[in-house]
Amino acid sequence: MQVILVGLPGAGKGTQAERIQSYFGIPHISTGDMFRRAVASGGELGQQVQSYLNSGRLVPDEITIKVVQERLVDEDAQRGFLLDGFPRTLEQADALDGMLTEIGKPIDAVLYIHVSEDVLLARLTGRRICRQCGTTYHVIFQPPKEEGVCDKCGGELYQRSDDSEEAVKTRLEQYKHTAPLIEYYRERGVLRQIDGLQPIEQVFEDVQAVLAAYA
Ligand code: AP5
Ligand code: ZN
Repeated sequence: MQVILVGLPGAGKGTQAERIQSYFGIPHISTGDMFRRAVASGGELGQQVQSYLNSGRLVPDEITIKVVQERLVDEDAQRGFLLDGFPRTLEQADALDGMLTEIGKPIDAVLYIHVSEDVLLARLTGRRICRQCGTTYHVIFQPPKEEGVCDKCGGELYQRSDDSEEAVKTRLEQYKHTAPLIEYYRERGVLRQIDGLQPIEQVFEDVQAVLAAYA
């Protein structure tokens, strides 16, 4: 099963991706996570992308496309994958089409997690992430049992550098590059819209119902 997740920053892509990955057993490929790991490890890629990530601007297509190209040839991606945060521009969508044609794996569904912009600032500024296992929490909507500590692994929770009010503004503004993808995939008949304003577990029930057809 080949699935793409799209939606505004904070729509709940990563939150649903964690659940989809464990329920359907397909690898979660998040360009945001890959870039954050690259920054943390301090290598060449990390240095190239750090300023884009911190400010909330999109990383140039050339860099992003190469990272995904290299990831999709990994062995685990041969059984299918869940792309989260890619593609994000029409150029990236075009490049992805080329890659998928080459490996003979068409897109089954593009899940569009639809939310209204007014909920996003509260979602993003309240988000906390486990440093060790990457699980996502929210101080109000999905709080850990003990403040600042991951339920799953006991790891420390941290706040992303681009979850400041200023960077969130830039990220929402940058979404203008991504919005045209909704029509692009709708016209191809693969877009499936999900109401992302519902509670997390209800959103996941809707996601499961859509993806059951491809499992
Ligand atoms: P990326 O990591 O992809 O960030 P994003 O798209 O801004 O998405 P987020 O991770 O912020 O939101 P999400 O939808 O996953 O929300 P989440 O589930 O965590 O990209 C980061 C940066 O990397 C970009 O700015 C760019 O610089 C670069 N980049 C990445 N990909 C790129 C690309 N393809 N091209 C160019 N540059 C790229 O939820 C948010 C919070 O809300 C959480 O706390 C969660 O607990 C809570 N929540 C989730 N669902 C609900 C719900 N239903 N109800 C209440 N709370 C909820
Ligand atoms: Zn953890």
